[in-house]
Amino acid sequence: MFDNYEIPQNLIPSDPRFGSGPSLVPVEYLSALLKTGVHYMGTSHRKPAIKNVVKEIQDGLMKYFNVPSDYLVVLGNGGATLLFDMIALGIVEKKATHFTCGEFSEKWFKSSKLVPWIETEQVSVPFGKGINGKSVSGSDLIAVTLNETSTGVQLSALPVVDANTILAVDATSGGGQCPCDVSKTDIYFFSPQKVFASDGGLWIAIMSPKALARAKKIAADKSRYVPDIMNWTNAITNGESNQTYNTPALATLFFMNEQLKVMNLLGYEEVQKLAQRKADLLYGWAESKPYLSCYIEEKEFRSIAVATIDVDSKVNVDDVIKFLEKKKVVYGIDGYRKLGRNQFRISMFHNISYSDLEKLTGLLSAMIESKL
Ligand SMILES: Cc1ncc(COP(=O)(O)O)c(C=O)c1O
Repeated sequence: MFDNYEIPQNLIPSDPRFGSGPSLVPVEYLSALLKTGVHYMGTSHRKPAIKNVVKEIQDGLMKYFNVPSDYLVVLGNGGATLLFDMIALGIVEKKATHFTCGEFSEKWFKSSKLVPWIETEQVSVPFGKGINGKSVSGSDLIAVTLNETSTGVQLSALPVVDANTILAVDATSGGGQCPCDVSKTDIYFFSPQKVFASDGGLWIAIMSPKALARAKKIAADKSRYVPDIMNWTNAITNGESNQTYNTPALATLFFMNEQLKVMNLLGYEEVQKLAQRKADLLYGWAESKPYLSCYIEEKEFRSIAVATIDVDSKVNVDDVIKFLEKKKVVYGIDGYRKLGRNQFRISMFHNISYSDLEKLTGLLSAMIESKL
């Protein structure tokens, strides 16, 4: 459809990566890793070279999110998906209630549901709608998703829970960028291949004293079999000594730390403001063009990390996406595959610049308008 299309040179973004994860890792971070030469990669994760980076990440996150000093940052292998199971196995006492609004929040609910010794309840809204969640009598864990990556919905407020309830927040794709008072959560967890510009495979959980106490209490109940890799006591003890239970990917830790240093220089508030400005650009663009519309109609739930924009059926987005990928000009703007919509899903993660988003929107408009 676009075979003979000539891409206007002034609309070519400086970086082609607009995907919602794995996300844009700045080339400078790759160079910084290269510069560590023989003193980082290939070193034991039980030695200072690596433990110091883990400590910098832990301290950096405590500072960035301004959480009380009795919180603990715990890390492990397996990504956020592993935590779905780990939380159900070792943090839920009797019952979890999950508030779901898309693919990832549903996946978390389904994982919890498989654990035979807990009760699991789902409160859902259709895909494309938002839900904030609330305290539920009889539930000792409330599960919410900060940014539903599949649909581009973010929480507009955190549920308030009582002293006996754990508030668990999957912050995988919004963590660090979407508004959230982490000191009001008990387990705020994410994988670092989104806003934190690193690679996959790692999980990071910021845990409140309440969550740490719950994990220890449940670990003492020997009737539950929990594999060692998902055992909270192992994870917490290692976190206390700036380590992970088993060997982590060292490059992933390195990139995460580089990104956190950059974000800490700006501060969480400023990062959110920059993200909001990009969101205003994308949603404003969608609202200004007759052939585009915002998939998320409820404005308060529109994500400032991932924008989902529907396109008139006269132009097939797959043709646009395939052409731009073939030309190596734009990567990763496909809608979430299972949604099956004629949709662009564009990441606004911290490293994606405002000016590149301006070019991207200009380019997409020019291509679509050439066919209408
Ligand atoms: C909201 C959300 N939760 C969980 C996950 C799973 O993360 P991982 O693949 O690192 O396990 C993702 C991945 O995209 C996500 O977007």
